[in-house]
Amino acid sequence: MYAQLVETGVKRLKTLDEMSEQERAFQERIDAEIKIEAKNWMPDAYRQTLIRQISQHAHSEIVGMLPEGNWVTRAPSLKRKLQLMAKIQDEAGHGLYLYSAMETLGADRDTEIERLHSGKAKYSSIFNYPTLSWADIGAVGWLVDGAAIVNQVVLQRTSYGPYSRAMIRICKEESFHQRQGYEILLTMMREGNQAQKDMVQDAINRLWWPSLMMFGPSDEHSPNSAQSMAWKIKRQSNDELRQRFIDQTVPQLELLGCTAPDPELKWNAERGHYDFGQIQWDEFYEVLKGNGPCNQERVATRRQAIEDGAWVRAAAVAHAKKKANKNAA
Ligand code: 3HC
Repeated sequence: MYAQLVETGVKRLKTLDEMSEQERAFQERIDAEIKIEAKNWMPDAYRQTLIRQISQHAHSEIVGMLPEGNWVTRAPSLKRKLQLMAKIQDEAGHGLYLYSAMETLGADRDTEIERLHSGKAKYSSIFNYPTLSWADIGAVGWLVDGAAIVNQVVLQRTSYGPYSRAMIRICKEESFHQRQGYEILLTMMREGNQAQKDMVQDAINRLWWPSLMMFGPSDEHSPNSAQSMAWKIKRQSNDELRQRFIDQTVPQLELLGCTAPDPELKWNAERGHYDFGQIQWDEFYEVLKGNGPCNQERVATRRQAIEDGAWVRAAAVAHAKKKANKNAA
């Protein structure tokens, strides 16, 4: 695998001969599918890549709570409100697992959260789009969590032990997220009036392409993929996972009786996959630069939440110290 990457020149990676003895032993451990644990030696670049990816994954989980939180008070029934609250609480838990996995690499949680607030760290582009109707909540569950599942199921096999184990736990909860979103849309399409059916199609029209962008830039424009795949942090490429998501989602779209905003979307029997239109990469990179519909609002809300919660954290630390002193006495 590693040698192939070097041969194809996907990106100039160190050849095994160019590695130090320690780096070669590390790569051989990776290639033998032995998980890397926090106590094992690792190249600093491996450590930094994981801190980058896991911190941004955790930020995505926490920021991802905001577009859905916007609809808790407006859920159409108690059942829908309970489902949505359960999902949002799950996402908070996912963020905590991932921040904890990140900390095993020696990263500091407050530092990484400050990097989010200062715009130095990213979170998934999809969360910079607004949720304008109740159908958006269904589409977020179905498309956004659906895309996250495709990515996260594969991440369960990532080479870093704590990240892999966090993914196994997170994936168990994600399938409920995706199913409840799809059931919202199916209910609206089967039992709703025309206005509600139009609301579903409108949500899909707005969230379809941003959901495809969740998988990252095309492989040829991904600066991190080659090395991440050589280290088996990333097990499949951005384009492979995007294609898998489209192939599994189009039949669900058809069952809804809806269409995608992509006239080029059609089954290619020769390829055994759906062909699809050109992703608007300008839009993707604008959102990454902070110029999406909700970027400012999302970061400001997160910064405010951290400030508002400072007293809770101070009280918890004071209580823990008092308890520790009492036990030590
Ligand atoms: N949104 C924001 N930034 C993105 C992005 C997106 N959709 N796709 C790529 N990027 C960024 C990358 O972070 C990288 O920037 P950086 O070097 O400053 O970090 C740059 O664009 C180039 O992309 P690469 O493909 O080279 O970067 P990666 O190899 O890191 O691949 C990734 C990107 C596929 C998102 C990978 O980081 C990954 O698999 N991350 C873990 C999964 C994740 O973060 N998912 C986000 C959604 S979580 C979620 O939806 C929660 C669910 O419960 C709803």
